[in-house]
Amino acid sequence: MQAEVIVVTGGAGFIGSHIVESLLSGGARVIVLDDYSTGKKSNLLNVETHSNLNIYEVDLTQNIKASLTRVEEEAGMIDRVIHFAAQTAVVNSIENPIQDIHSNSMMTVHLLEYFKNKNLKKFIFASSAAVYGDVAEFPIQEDFSCEPLSPYGINKLASENYMFYYSKVFGIPSVALRFFNVYGPRQDPANPYSGVISIFLERAMKGLDLNIFGDGKQTRDFVYVSDVVQAIDKALYLESKNFSAVNIGSSLETSINQLAQSIVNLFPEAGSKINHLSARDGEIIKSLSSTDKARALLSFEKKISLEKGLAETAQWFIGCESTLSKRTLSETR
Ligand SMILES: NC(=O)c1ccc[n+]([C@@H]2O[C@H](COP(=O)([O-])OP(=O)(O)OC[C@H]3O[C@@H](n4cnc5c(N)ncnc54)[C@H](O)[C@@H]3O)[C@@H](O)[C@H]2O)c1
Repeated sequence: MQAEVIVVTGGAGFIGSHIVESLLSGGARVIVLDDYSTGKKSNLLNVETHSNLNIYEVDLTQNIKASLTRVEEEAGMIDRVIHFAAQTAVVNSIENPIQDIHSNSMMTVHLLEYFKNKNLKKFIFASSAAVYGDVAEFPIQEDFSCEPLSPYGINKLASENYMFYYSKVFGIPSVALRFFNVYGPRQDPANPYSGVISIFLERAMKGLDLNIFGDGKQTRDFVYVSDVVQAIDKALYLESKNFSAVNIGSSLETSINQLAQSIVNLFPEAGSKINHLSARDGEIIKSLSSTDKARALLSFEKKISLEKGLAETAQWFIGCESTLSKRTLSETR
């Protein structure tokens, strides 16, 4: 049987590169579309020579139709799409809300338009807990009202609404996965808007202080990237022909103080201290997902504890650091 053709937009990014590896090991033909704006070629180093992988460097805010037509001419009909490419910084979306439409919801609509008469088997979208805004009740369930407080969240919700419409009217089966705080290897600490875990880990490893905005009692729901990959994989082959929106989190809340302390404890020799800076305007105080729907619909079960996930991520950071210093050493010789 011929391998299915699966397109992963943003496949050179943090989460995207993990799903690409998993799809290839499952025997799929994988097409990555990425402009490397925040993604990296090195994220796909383990698989770059894989015979079932094709990588196209394209900016999906420009002429998506031409890119997909070229993919189908070269690889055959596309069976499934995992749409992860996006401008991912909430701050950027606030500073430039018009540009954010182009690099978020507009991209989604262009993709859905292309696939509307093509019998696509599934369209998976990386949505976000940002669709909910400031919530008063916990844990957060999918049927809570969505009142996003940033253009980023508005665009994620708009994408979901378009997916609902294209599923109802044009029969494109789709799933929006509302990610909470995803962390793990390859999350870029150089990106100031990247996850707090990658930033804290990098600083703690170097013995630099960890800076917390506010009193540190604010909580987040951290979910390890391999658990997210498990959810994407299940959603990709979900039987339903409809649209579904599903939370993907850990259903556990961790305060930023607890997190910082756990990370400092991983590098006892480095001697980092924890500082508290003034609180940031509009920061969400509490985050906690209900994953009941993910369990019921996708048989999703979180497998990796925060302790284990942090240790694995720290290991990856240490590996990167030693590769870098070896390279620097040999470059100076
Ligand atoms: N990491 C999280 O905690 C989290 C939480 C909620 C939602 N999400 C969503 O998950 C998705 C993946 O996030 P990530 O953390 O892996 O971020 P990432 O920045 O590592 O991945 C995004 C990828 O999209 C690519 N991209 C961006 N704009 C593009 C364009 N115009 N054309 C082609 N490629 C483009 C980037 O180069 C990058 O490879 C994003 O849609 C993000 O909004 C992530």
